[in-house]
Amino acid sequence: MKNIISIILAAVFMASCTDGIVVSHQDKAAYTITTSPAEICDTQMNFSWATDTTITEAILEVTPVKDRNWKNSLKESFHGALCTTFDSVYSKTHDGKDFYEDAVFNKFNANISGLAPDTQYKYRIITTDTSSVHYFHTAGAKRWEACIISDFHVYSPIYGRTQAAMDMISTVENYKPFDWILHLGDITAWGGSYTFWKDLYKEAPFHKYMWAGVNGNHDNMTRGYHRTTNEFFRDAAAYPRNGYTSEEGVCYHFRYGDVLFIMLNNENMKDSLGLEAAQQWVRQVVAENPAPYKVVCEHYQWFFGKDGKTSQYGRWSALFDELGINLALAGNNHIYVSTPALYDGKTTDGTKGTVYIQTPSSDNERGVEYDPQAPLAENDDKIKFRWSEGGNTVGAMHMKVTPEKMTLVLLDRYGNVLDTNYVYPTR
Ligand SMILES: [Fe+2]
Repeated sequence: MKNIISIILAAVFMASCTDGIVVSHQDKAAYTITTSPAEICDTQMNFSWATDTTITEAILEVTPVKDRNWKNSLKESFHGALCTTFDSVYSKTHDGKDFYEDAVFNKFNANISGLAPDTQYKYRIITTDTSSVHYFHTAGAKRWEACIISDFHVYSPIYGRTQAAMDMISTVENYKPFDWILHLGDITAWGGSYTFWKDLYKEAPFHKYMWAGVNGNHDNMTRGYHRTTNEFFRDAAAYPRNGYTSEEGVCYHFRYGDVLFIMLNNENMKDSLGLEAAQQWVRQVVAENPAPYKVVCEHYQWFFGKDGKTSQYGRWSALFDELGINLALAGNNHIYVSTPALYDGKTTDGTKGTVYIQTPSSDNERGVEYDPQAPLAENDDKIKFRWSEGGNTVGAMHMKVTPEKMTLVLLDRYGNVLDTNYVYPTR
């Protein structure tokens, strides 16, 4: 009996320790929490988080924000799966030291359905600890707004990059509030470095909004290109698994209000076979998901901002004409470029054709210069506006969607509107 009491007392003592062999409460809390779109965002949402490997089950508690005391919350239990995607990847610590990531965890991909449309929700993850509160807004409103940003290359030793991008998101918020954030890739410097994702997801915009995005070349790589894979992007979020073979959770489509978003992965369509597979899938998605607005997003630029030369526009414009894609969004070039609606290579009055836009960078560090005075080598008849601030560029966009039109504006870091674009629905 005495022995049993000693064992119990020892266990109580160990459980109260915050270090030693007992894992602390902090380690038991869910981390790297992010809200991703579900295929239909009116009534469903996806959620991604990680826990240490001793936690196999977690409860997601969700309720409308107006339910102040969580009295009418919905609680659903989810199981995690062991994730080793990021483990032992060669990386950098916050203080710039070389190290190998120690990233073995249980990964949770959750989907909640039965939500009310056009509603502001809050949620938290309950393990043996309770996470901080996160928020999202379901689709369903006739009018809604989003922030669009890309290329901030989060790199844990240089917090200034993250700071610049998060400040830019605040600038867009101050311009006009929005419901969610769309990113166009390269939000990390090395997507294989889990430390970078962990740091990024601690930032306020990841607590406040749903994020949808595309895989950028930087998100797809480890330091020094030791490994390149779309698994980094896939396992850092919980995107819908409705993409084509080997692109599930990387390429995906979702509907937010009147808009069908189709998200592509440039890294796996560099050759003609890859391009063919992607284009076949886009055709099928458009055929099966009729929508007033169809938007295609990828990371690689439509045009080279420096001289106007054709980039991905050359590979996609014929298909966009064929399918009636209203808006094509990209990033990567770090020089903002916009066009009026183009159909068959010519500008239209906007009732037909595709508006092409690529976002600037936003980290105040890896921007690209161009000479606005130099004549364009190509596409002078298509390109409407270009912009960058050179090496230290920070910019992002605000998108407003109504049944009549989409309005997309480019903002600089001071909140000045530099360019305005209108996109009309397919009637
Ligand atoms: Fe980039």
